[in-house]
Amino acid sequence: MLVCHCLAVNDREVKAAVGQGAATVEDVINLTDAGALCGGCHPSICMLLGEHSQGDCGGDACLAGSRVLCGDRSSV
Ligand code: FES
Repeated sequence: MLVCHCLAVNDREVKAAVGQGAATVEDVINLTDAGALCGGCHPSICMLLGEHSQGDCGGDACLAGSRVLCGDRSSV
């Protein structure tokens, strides 16, 4: 599934970054470039971080303006 449409980064790449230790959206940006442009994918990245950390990514995992409750896929 494509996560970042601007930079064509899929969920497997983001999950690989999480597996390499990415714990925040900024970490994912640094490892994959996903989220580096418009930021529209930040909530999706946050959800992938939350999935990895059992739904508890918290505010620290989300950059300002993209805070969502992990697991609440309707929040942006
Ligand atoms: S959709 Fe990811 S930066 Fe635009």
